[in-house]
Formats: sequence, C-alpha cells, structure tokens
Amino acid sequence: MSMREIKLCLLGDSGVGKSSLVVRFVNDKFTANLESTIGASFMSKTLVVNDTSYKFQIWDTAGQEKYRGLAPMYYRGAAAAIVVYDVTREASFQTLKDWIRELKQYGSDNIVLAIAGNKCDLEDLREVSTRTALEYAEENNAIFCETSAKTAHNVSQIFTLITQRLPSE
Ligand code: GTP
Ligand code: MG
Repeated sequence: MSMREIKLCLLGDSGVGKSSLVVRFVNDKFTANLESTIGASFMSKTLVVNDTSYKFQIWDTAGQEKYRGLAPMYYRGAAAAIVVYDVTREASFQTLKDWIRELKQYGSDNIVLAIAGNKCDLEDLREVSTRTALEYAEENNAIFCETSAKTAHNVSQIFTLITQRLPSE
C-alpha cells in the first residue's frame, strides 16, 4: 500500500466549527462548548482510500481576527485547505470568500480547495442557501460539502473528496 503525507489547514471565522470538524474527524467526538483556538493547533489522522494511505497533517487555525496574520504560516506549502463557514451565519460566508481569495493569491499553485458549510444540523437557523454556496464553490473550482461536526454528516467525506483531487505523484 502506498503512503502519502498531506499537509492541510483549516481556515474560517471564529466559531464556525473548524476545531469541532477536526475533533470529529480525528477522534469521532463532539463537544458542545469547545474553547476558541489560540494561535493554531495540530493533529494528524490517517485515512485509507483505494489502497493508498493518506496521513493528514492538520493545522487547525484560530479564527479570531487578532490571529489572522498567522495564517500564512499554516497555509504555506499546504496541499489542501478546508475553508469553513457556518450555514447559520451569513457574515461567515463573506469571510470565507476573503480566505479563498487569499489562498488563490498566496497559497500553493495546485492547492486543493474545499469549502465546508458547517452546522447543517441547524436547518431552522439557516442563513446561507446550499445553492448560493454551491455556485460559489463551482466558480472557484472548490470541493463543496455541507457538514455537521455535531452529527458527523459529511465530515470524513470531505477529506475523502480531497484525496481524490490531489495531483498524482
Ligand atoms: P475558533 O477556534 O475561535 O476559530 O472557532 P472554531 O471555528 O474552531 O469553532 P469551534 O469548533 O470551537 O466551534 C464553535 C462552537 O460551535 C462550539 O460551541 C461548537 O460546539 C459549535 N459547533 C461546531 N460545529 C457544530 C455543528 O456542526 N453543529 C452545531 N449545532 N454546533 C456546532
Ligand atoms: Mg478552533
């Protein structure tokens, strides 16, 4: 079985659920009151897809404005980025667009971009339609999934989709 190491970072507004998505993917757990990330945190997890073992080196960045300037340290050299917004908070979708623009300008040339519309379990509070986000993702050649760290909906799926978009070695 072949093995690949994939540097990946998560970006997006504070509170959208970046850390919750990582904890769900890595430990299959959910915490209702997770603390806001300071600086960044690192975790790794191996996923086997079609006879290849992908070791994800995951940098979970802090979304608070005061940490914004640190982001390039984490997305530089990354093979993939998951940019997260909260489907119940329109403003977080605007921030996502800023991150996508920044990644296109300063990220690796062939970086795989994925967009996660998180908290899709909160349908009654939705502010961003699936269609709006899907169209935006298509225009930007990004993978798109609505996810829920709470229910685990589409969480490992988004990582699997990323493996399928990585350039072959
Ligand atoms: P920063 O570290 O400040 O950038 O925030 P973050 O993006 O890492 O958000 P975090 O994972 O800390 O989640 C913020 C809050 O949203 C927490 O109270 C989570 O429990 C909650 N949350 C995260 N994901 C979901 C989800 O899919 N559904 C619901 N209902 N709540 C969620
Ligand atoms: Mg966090």
